[in-house]
Amino acid sequence: MRIPTADDFHALEEWGLVENPHAAIDDYSAERERRRDENDRHRCARREQVENASERFVADSQSYYRELDRPIDRTKWTYLKRRKAWFQPPVGWERFAAPGTSRVLDLGCGDGDQTERVAEFVAGRWQAAGYDGFPLEIVGVDLSDSRVENARRHAQSPHGKITLRFESGDAVSGLDYADDFFDYTLAMGLFEVLDDADAEAVLDELARLTAHGVYVRDVLDDYPGLSPRPDLADRLADRGFDPVDRHECFEEPFVTEGSRDPLAVWPMNVHQVLFAAARDPPARADRY
Ligand SMILES: C[S@@+](CC[C@H](N)C(=O)[O-])C[C@H]1O[C@@H](n2cnc3c(N)ncnc32)[C@H](O)[C@@H]1O
Repeated sequence: MRIPTADDFHALEEWGLVENPHAAIDDYSAERERRRDENDRHRCARREQVENASERFVADSQSYYRELDRPIDRTKWTYLKRRKAWFQPPVGWERFAAPGTSRVLDLGCGDGDQTERVAEFVAGRWQAAGYDGFPLEIVGVDLSDSRVENARRHAQSPHGKITLRFESGDAVSGLDYADDFFDYTLAMGLFEVLDDADAEAVLDELARLTAHGVYVRDVLDDYPGLSPRPDLADRLADRGFDPVDRHECFEEPFVTEGSRDPLAVWPMNVHQVLFAAARDPPARADRY
């Protein structure tokens, strides 16, 4: 990926996410998904993603991420933050901004760009309501020390009452937090990189750590080393988190030919986005 220019950022602005952060949900249809293969760039990018899959990632995603050493340039970080906003719409995030929330976990937070987006979403809701907010801690945890370092370097809190914290941790072996420590947990692109045994362990850990609700974004297309799980909502329901909202969306705005992403970062994959709420949340007195 080259360093994005002002024109590239301008092109992203035209996707209309400021006016409608959920635009990707309106843009998707099963009929468009059937027509995706008419898109030359998508077909070509898909073939390249399959052919260029890292052997180390395919063999063992966990050691791949643990050993990753990839500092990221700030302009690329900012571009990717805005670029990913298309396929990680803020479904259910208004709950994070409601009084009663104190801690949110971004599990598998990567470079922290989406963690910052979550903080900006909450600050924006407060501001729109003329509300001064409440102390809120958003914690990003990732297996990759290099990515945690990127997150610490680049992500900033947009509001005096919101604290962003980043730490290394392995969601498969478990995190050092009490049961129900977090009100909400997000897992964006985490399950897709896990094999089935690890995904089950992380689902258990996520359910243990989370009191009220879970947001997941995960790929539904098949790629070497990735594991699409269309039944993720059922697996969350088995653990007491009932899906209240589930959508599919494309990785970028649908066009029949070419791409609307000037940097053509990814193929036009299909993702699922879901928010699941705890069926029987713990009483506040039992948590604090
Ligand atoms: C596809 S990236 C998504 C990153 C970020 N959530 C985003 O939306 O940009 C998957 C991330 O999951 C992290 N990850 C993989 N296995 C993990 C584990 N066992 N515990 C914590 N993080 C993990 C990887 O290091 C990587 O940063």
